[in-house]
Amino acid sequence: MAEKNIRLEVMQAIEPQVEGFMEKFLIPVEDIWQPSDFLPDSENDRFLDDVETLRGESKELGYDFWVTMVADTITEEALPTYESWLMDVEGINQHDGKGSGWSKWVRAWTAEENRHGDVLNKYLYLSGRVNMREVEITTQHLLTDGFDIGTDRDPYKNFVYTSFQELATNISHKRVGQMAKKKGNALLGKMCTIIAGDEMRHHLAYREFVKTIFGEDPSGMMLAFADMMKKKIVMPAHFLRESGGFIGEAFENFSNCAQRLGVYTAQDYVDILRKLNVYWELETVRSLSEEAEKARDYLIRLPERLERIAERMKFPEDQYRFKWVEANGMV
Ligand SMILES: [Fe+2]
Ligand SMILES: [Fe+2]
Repeated sequence: MAEKNIRLEVMQAIEPQVEGFMEKFLIPVEDIWQPSDFLPDSENDRFLDDVETLRGESKELGYDFWVTMVADTITEEALPTYESWLMDVEGINQHDGKGSGWSKWVRAWTAEENRHGDVLNKYLYLSGRVNMREVEITTQHLLTDGFDIGTDRDPYKNFVYTSFQELATNISHKRVGQMAKKKGNALLGKMCTIIAGDEMRHHLAYREFVKTIFGEDPSGMMLAFADMMKKKIVMPAHFLRESGGFIGEAFENFSNCAQRLGVYTAQDYVDILRKLNVYWELETVRSLSEEAEKARDYLIRLPERLERIAERMKFPEDQYRFKWVEANGMV
């Protein structure tokens, strides 16, 4: 049987469990936080005073910090790219019948994610620390450019990608939150920490999807995992550009920034891989084909190899000047 059909069969076999995954890993709409819970209330007479406080607290944060905040926000704002990509994955079907459990998952996940870009965008706007128009141009460019994460329409590869990526965003939002808190910005600290909490739940869900697939099709899942790691997990905003710039040009400068700040580093990449290897119990997966056995050996040795590379990596110390953030204060 063709590989393609096996994936479809596996997705259909798991589908009855998706409802349970939603209950376990997502929070009902009426119970979950909303952006307004963290922002000055514009119906309140104190609104302008609260905005003044927010702007005052923002002044304590430096140039690299704002660049990272902007890039994190734009990455969240490119959500239409991620939803349309996932809806197109094999086995996730929004057309047949009443819509599959999988397409319900994608919609509910998107609905949770949508709050992240919303709250961050509003915060950036009120902070007065960034050039909003430049931020908006970059967002529009990124949505126009889309992404290519090397997963194709393969559900196995896509779930490896999302397992990895949700933990990466958990780490970066969490660290940004800690930095904000340290500088006395309690509101921003709380906001980023609560976003990080959402990302963690999503990570736990996607890693469960992969674990379930390992139970159904161990060799196929192992090969897909190895294939993704050979290609490397690219960031969803890898095509990032500024106004007038070339596709992907701004991304490297931003990663250097995040690396310098310690918000997301090469070491984090290795740590995520280690955690996934442990959770998916790579060492004890049974009934692997010969090829999949080799893929397993590769994956088990990979963290150590990547660690050696990460130790040798050097990042430029000089700050690239982004159009998003003007050097209008603390640098
Ligand atoms: Fe998010
Ligand atoms: Fe996420």
